[in-house]
Amino acid sequence: MELPFDGAISTFYKTQAPDAVRKAVESAEKGDILSKSYPHKARKSRKSYEREMAALQIELVKLQAWVRETGTRIAMVFEGRDAAGKGGTIGRFRMNLNPRNANVIALSKPSEEESSQWYFQRYIKHLPSAGHINFFDRSWYNRGVVEPVFGFCTPEQNAQFFTQVQPFEQMLAEDGIHLFKFWLNVGREEQLRRMLQREQDPLKQWKLSSIDVKGLSLWDAYSAAIKDTLERSHTDIAPWTVVRSDDKRRARLNAIRTILHHFDYTRKDVDAIGEIDDSICGGPDIWD
Ligand code: ADP
Ligand code: AMP
Ligand code: MLT
Repeated sequence: MELPFDGAISTFYKTQAPDAVRKAVESAEKGDILSKSYPHKARKSRKSYEREMAALQIELVKLQAWVRETGTRIAMVFEGRDAAGKGGTIGRFRMNLNPRNANVIALSKPSEEESSQWYFQRYIKHLPSAGHINFFDRSWYNRGVVEPVFGFCTPEQNAQFFTQVQPFEQMLAEDGIHLFKFWLNVGREEQLRRMLQREQDPLKQWKLSSIDVKGLSLWDAYSAAIKDTLERSHTDIAPWTVVRSDDKRRARLNAIRTILHHFDYTRKDVDAIGEIDDSICGGPDIWD
């Protein structure tokens, strides 16, 4: 089978990945969690995941009904390195929702015209109207992480982003938009494992881009930009929720719980939601 980018992921893996990372990926069994600092030793079992997820899906449907009745506006931002699981998590949120009121916003790189506008401008038309829950698969935080790492913005543009992002988010909050910001954190070994799988899987190859290939060797630059972004944009009005996503199942369950616990929707069943696992879902202090 033809591999995208001439098999650049496997080439990186064989020739450039740090020895320790390669060894960890090589010796991994299917259910292993590769990140040594991850607080659980094994992945959540499929059975308990499916049982808990089924209960959360019912609660999400109740939440959406309430959102539509009350005209509530919710925006969720999903950020994270490549292959962190943003798309998969958004998919679980939306699985049983009416798609008309639950939109995904996954913008491409800015066009020439957009590049000439105020940086936040193209995101504004995608903010939620009454009764809508909008999911941003990447967001204005591109200018905090991806853009400076790849040189797609100038240092001045990056600095201006950080002076503007707090007032920008404050304005959204003051206008009544409920903004949630999820940072999905994936370890280097697990990221590489997922990318190698994507390279081999005809159904997943679309998720790979040349940016992902280049990004593999920029792990440390990403880490610095992420740290900077979390420090400078974690505010009382718009805090980050960091979700450690080496185990996709726990990550999805806890992200959904974070939203459900926040709202007092009709017929809410607190016991069905269950507790948040604060060892993998919390503030920037659990980022690693
Ligand atoms: P994804 O991982 O979201 O599928 P990519 O890895 O290809 O997409 O790109 C990561 C992010 O970087 C995207 O939000 C994309 O729009 C942005 N991006 C890519 N190229 C540029 C560019 N030249 N200038 C600004 N942003 C860019
Ligand atoms: P499966 O869907 O169980 O056939 O798994 C296919 C691949 O998806 C695995 O080899 C993993 O890399 C990934 N995967 C499956 N379940 C998880 C999980 N709970 N956490 C992280 N990755 C997973
Ligand atoms: C995902 O797994 O959905 C990713 O976070 C998207 C990507 O590869 O950039």
